[in-house]
Amino acid sequence: MARCGPALLLLLAALAAPALAGPVPRGSSAAPRSPLDLLDDRTRELAPDMADPLPPPRRRAPKKAPRLVDGANGDPYRLPSSLIPLLYQVELTPNFDTFTFDGNALIIVNCVEDTDTIVLHAKELTIDKDAFVIVDDRMTYFAFAQLKSMTLDKTHDFLSLKLDTMMTKGNRYRFVLQYTGILNDNLDGFYRSSYKTADGETRWLATTQFEETGARRAFPCWDEPSFKARFYIIINHDKNRNAVSNMPIVQSAPNQKDPTLIQVQFDGTLPISTYLIAFIVSDFGSVTNCEGNFTLYARKELLDGGHFSQVIGQKALQLLAEYNGIDYMLPKEDQAAIPDFAAGAMENWGLVTYREEYLIEQDSQNARIAEYMMTTICHELGHQWTGDLVTLDWWSHTWLNEGFADYFENYICNLIKPEWHLRDKGVVYDHQQAMEYDVLETQVAMSSPVSSPAEDSSKFDRISYSKGGAVIRMWEYMLGVDVLKAGMHRYLSIHMFKNTRPEDLFNAIGFEAQKAKVLPDGVTFGDIASTWTEQPGVPVVSAVRDYDKKTITLSQKRFFYAPPNRASLVNQRWFIPVTMTQQASANWDSLKPSTWLWPSKEQTVASVSSSSSEWVLVNPKEIGYYRVNYDVQNWKLLLAALTKKPSDFPPATRSQLLNDALALARGNQLDYSVALPFLNFLKTERQVAPWQTATASLNWMRTKLAGTDVWDKFLTLVRQLTQNAYEAVGYGGAPDHETRYLRYYVVSHACNAGNQDCISQANNLLKSWLADKSTKLDADTSLVTMCHGLRGDDAATNFAGLKAAWLAEKDTKTRTILLQSLACAKAAHLDSLLKETVSSSSKVDQDEVVNLWKEVLNRPEQIPTLFKFAQDNSQLIDSFFKNSSTNSGAVKLMLNCIEQITSTDALNDARRWVEYNYKNQAGYDVLQSAFLDAYVSLDWYRRNYKTVADWISSNV
Ligand SMILES: *[C@@H]1O[C@H](CO)[C@@H](O)[C@H](O)[C@H]1NC(C)=O
Ligand SMILES: *[C@@H]1O[C@H](CO)[C@@H](O)[C@H](O)[C@H]1NC(C)=O
Repeated sequence: MARCGPALLLLLAALAAPALAGPVPRGSSAAPRSPLDLLDDRTRELAPDMADPLPPPRRRAPKKAPRLVDGANGDPYRLPSSLIPLLYQVELTPNFDTFTFDGNALIIVNCVEDTDTIVLHAKELTIDKDAFVIVDDRMTYFAFAQLKSMTLDKTHDFLSLKLDTMMTKGNRYRFVLQYTGILNDNLDGFYRSSYKTADGETRWLATTQFEETGARRAFPCWDEPSFKARFYIIINHDKNRNAVSNMPIVQSAPNQKDPTLIQVQFDGTLPISTYLIAFIVSDFGSVTNCEGNFTLYARKELLDGGHFSQVIGQKALQLLAEYNGIDYMLPKEDQAAIPDFAAGAMENWGLVTYREEYLIEQDSQNARIAEYMMTTICHELGHQWTGDLVTLDWWSHTWLNEGFADYFENYICNLIKPEWHLRDKGVVYDHQQAMEYDVLETQVAMSSPVSSPAEDSSKFDRISYSKGGAVIRMWEYMLGVDVLKAGMHRYLSIHMFKNTRPEDLFNAIGFEAQKAKVLPDGVTFGDIASTWTEQPGVPVVSAVRDYDKKTITLSQKRFFYAPPNRASLVNQRWFIPVTMTQQASANWDSLKPSTWLWPSKEQTVASVSSSSSEWVLVNPKEIGYYRVNYDVQNWKLLLAALTKKPSDFPPATRSQLLNDALALARGNQLDYSVALPFLNFLKTERQVAPWQTATASLNWMRTKLAGTDVWDKFLTLVRQLTQNAYEAVGYGGAPDHETRYLRYYVVSHACNAGNQDCISQANNLLKSWLADKSTKLDADTSLVTMCHGLRGDDAATNFAGLKAAWLAEKDTKTRTILLQSLACAKAAHLDSLLKETVSSSSKVDQDEVVNLWKEVLNRPEQIPTLFKFAQDNSQLIDSFFKNSSTNSGAVKLMLNCIEQITSTDALNDARRWVEYNYKNQAGYDVLQSAFLDAYVSLDWYRRNYKTVADWISSNV
């Protein structure tokens, strides 16, 4: 996300609401910052009750990557490879009083190049220099050399041990390091976590998160994925706790030195990368399957909620073994639920760790989280093959791990629960979301070089995950699933216990593709695949029919919303498999390519059998990672057929047509008057995937149209589009999963658009809940209820009640949800709240005030209220923040409001106000430049507003 521009993020809504995304990492290594700086971090997503189209992030959002100064010649962050680790025996003794641990690492290395220095990774470890011993592996009784010096380079986390003797090529050495480390609270490395028991007692545990560079915080090691080695883990823990790790326990006995401790030895691993090692020391309970080889670990009171993940996990593991044609390699698989966890889950080989809400079913679980829980399990277990058994060689190829995991989460989970339509939903949240992210001119390719830890972490983005998953899905249809499976079997068999580059995958799949003769003559799979993995961006295929000659001419260019600064980028080309179906012979099942677009050819002409009154559709079910633009007549034929009988098109294609049409219109490649009518099929739509697409589209329009003249009519349009579906799903009740999931979207749109029944339901539900908070709000609609309950007949009482509940709330998570909801308040209430929170008698802290502003900024229709508040109360705001510098609180808030201005009139009004009030003052210059930027982004209105407004007015 760090690479993403603000305008795009409006649509992306890439992150879920922080409150729902689980624990906020405690502690941070970043420098202390002013609460106001939080405004700069705003990801510009829409508020959560506005039906965020995306699941919460599976992995943490990447840290901002500082550019490397060095790196041109040789990569300063990579370890020398003169010594190769073969085996580690790591003994750890965590101490829960001091939050530290003692460590002892015995490491055997193979010397492949003469050297007198051992260089390996270590971070935040205190190493006992005097305890260092090194021996020649053949003569273990004599010290081989003495330590001359030891240095720790904190920039690169390099621990250098210089010896007085040369280690020579072809020999093996073993050395021992004793050290202490910190059980930190950064959710990285070997870290501490805690939970409260029912009677309020705090229980501590220690757990790990090593991807990508956490292992070096637990033991000194060659902490790069390609240094695979065997690990023997030993843990000493007290009697109230137990320990688990990647492998089963082989021995457990009182520690000889300290009999109050139990010493647990785990079986040695297969060759494994450091980032996949894991161990947990806790008082967790467990549930095991009959075979005793699939176990859930969680705090004891949560174990009852683990049935679903135990069932899904075992099925997924079996289906994955079948898909890959290779058995799961370890004697057991554990899944553990961790109270504080930065990512969604982590695929440690044999011991997968999850956030509690993604492994354990809870009462408050909504349909979206239930589904995310399931796909997360398929994702992480998919990694046991692609990632753990065969591992990327370096983070530049993160997609080799994550793309497959994303692909498997839909493919495998869909086999377990076909009634959840996961492959259709994947079209939206992998494919379409990736295209949205990939449209940036500055986007990088799936494979792209990275070096420092911060850069490595930037590869854990939508491109590696979602685009990776979408491109692999395209390969599945391009080759046929059996050829892809055979290719995977070959790839995994050849490279197991090793590391790979994309070429290894391409060669293995290519071998099978050639055997099956599924590709055009003269090209290899690698030729085709690399056009997708080595280049950024998404193509748009132009499909222009000649209705007399009965042909269709296909050509390609790179898709952008606005002409790129480097104009030539548009000419980028791919090897594109083209599948087509036509009205005359509609077929949605046989999806092998019928023709290809070649990078070397200007265009491809294909014949069509349909008459001039029948449609042709390219890329059925959006299987290829590209958009399609047709001649206007064909668009109209598709529109007519879709409107007449939506069920003639599969759900994925309904999503696709809406998504392509509106994206092309936004990119000035299709007239809005042709694109917007594609919204109308929603009137009868009851599948989730098309509503997910619609959500992204409607939310984007919302940010554009709030505050314009057509706003009320737009709301009428949304009410009309959602009316049928709203009546069908209702506001509450707990029917099947898909209905609940659909309700999540539809109720949110309906209430947002002012559907009277919806608002009054929300009003009444919120009122009852405020009267008796022990009643539970329905999980799928709770956010909508709390938000829109502030707009009905009891708005004033509900607002007062919710505000009081917020001020009284101690739990941070709930407090955040309540604050989010307050941002929905009616203008007068919101204004009073904004004022009250910055007044001299304010009872909330600066962070919370800024969070309230952020929530309001995420609701386009509330921004005018916020802006007016900023203008009217600038002195109050600045004194609240004890601040009157250039970037004072008031100015900062105004900058954020100006960014979202939607009309020239509003912009001119604001500008006049600033002229009058800020001329010759500190914030004047920054405000002026914000106006200039805002003016540029009004370009969309200059081009499109009239067409959009006309269509909406005539359609409602
Ligand atoms: C557990 O054992 C059963 C029966 O031998 C086997 O089918 C299954 O694959 C094993 N699962 C794991 C995780 O090893
Ligand atoms: C005032 O604002 C500046 C710039 O945002 C910030 O660095 C500083 O910490 C603020 N001062 C206070 C007291 O908040």
